[in-house]
Amino acid sequence: MTEVRFHVEAGGRLGGRVRVPGDKSISHRSIMLGSLADGVTEVSGFLEGEDSLATLAAFRAMGVAIEGPDEGQLSIHGVGLHGLRRPAEPLYLGNSGTSMRLLAGLLAGQGFDTVLTGDASLSSRPMKRVIDPLTEMGARIDSEPGGTAPLRIHGGQRLHGIHYRLPMASAQVKSCVLLAGLYAEGETCTIEPAPTRDHTERMLAGMGYPVEVEGRTACLSGGGRLRATRIDVPSDISSAAFFLVGASIAAGSDLTLEHVGMNPTRTGVIDILRLMGADIEVSNAREVGGEPVADLRVRSAPLKGIAIPEALVPLAIDEFPALFVAAACAEGETLLTGAEELRVKESDRIQVMADGLQALGIQADPTPDGIRIQGGVLRGGRVASHGDHRIAMAFAMAALRADGPIDIEDCANVNTSFPGFVELAAGAGLKISTLG
Ligand code: S3P
Repeated sequence: MTEVRFHVEAGGRLGGRVRVPGDKSISHRSIMLGSLADGVTEVSGFLEGEDSLATLAAFRAMGVAIEGPDEGQLSIHGVGLHGLRRPAEPLYLGNSGTSMRLLAGLLAGQGFDTVLTGDASLSSRPMKRVIDPLTEMGARIDSEPGGTAPLRIHGGQRLHGIHYRLPMASAQVKSCVLLAGLYAEGETCTIEPAPTRDHTERMLAGMGYPVEVEGRTACLSGGGRLRATRIDVPSDISSAAFFLVGASIAAGSDLTLEHVGMNPTRTGVIDILRLMGADIEVSNAREVGGEPVADLRVRSAPLKGIAIPEALVPLAIDEFPALFVAAACAEGETLLTGAEELRVKESDRIQVMADGLQALGIQADPTPDGIRIQGGVLRGGRVASHGDHRIAMAFAMAALRADGPIDIEDCANVNTSFPGFVELAAGAGLKISTLG
């Protein structure tokens, strides 16, 4: 793969109206559940990023006819819960943790064997967290000795429902267990330690599959059917987050983000930025296909450091790279705790962000479960993204407040979640160009 680097000149401001690409989590689920439904599911707003395209390719490899994507439109010819076919080769899932963990659950209940592989980052991420509950349900899965991919999933096992208390707040683990539950005898329940994104539960219900949700418990029983439907994927709040931070920190900014997904399990970034003093106005709130959506207008504002409430951590779990840049531009100290999950994302986001911020002259002290960041003056410089899309985009926004250009290495994976980032950000006012 060619090395892609971002070069971002210092300064500037963000303005205008932008629509960021479709939600990654919902796009994955639209392929998975659309494929398992009876009938044709029409999807619009699908994220044509490498992660969701990896899920799409996996289902094509299992015999599902999918037309598109064509400007975010897809037609998925569902094969029913028992219509998938054995893929001829291992399913390569690239950088995508969501693909691997959700597919592990769904494939544990099939009548055929599968092998799931990924890139170097995905092959070092923890999979024991899904292997353990699936094994308890009767699945047979082999992994590498450290509990990492490739995963070899043995089909033809009889699964039985379990009541699973998740050891960590993880929507991927919750969704994995619920998807296996579609194929299990009896009732499967997940009990999470804190609320996490609920797109799986919403989409299942939207396709006519009974799911009972009460507080932090979600239950379903195997043996039902999914009905094809229309799915309108909203813009990804996790992609919008870079612009929320960029416009907040760059004086004179006034930017509107259109059609952003506002599912309450995802809006922690807005709450945290507002606690820091950000000026974010929510308008045109509406419901689209079972998911809340709104337009967000953000104007620059002086930010102050805060102790981030731990209850907001799972609701903003993907937005911390961007939030750390906001903290670097805030007055005073920002303290994050209860966020050890950040260490097992596409990179160790606590360490990689601390290293990058320090390289730009900011005092950033990592702790086992978080970070302490002292607001200050951002210098120009060179930072390593370690192939993590969100680290690359966060540091690109940092240039709006830096006193010199910022060069970011290893940015090719921005295409996993945000194809067209450079063009969209440049159109809004970021002085960004790609090298390599
Ligand atoms: C996701 C859940 C989150 C998030 C990831 C997408 C999902 O992971 O970080 O980008 O679509 O379910 P965890 O559930 O592991 O926290």
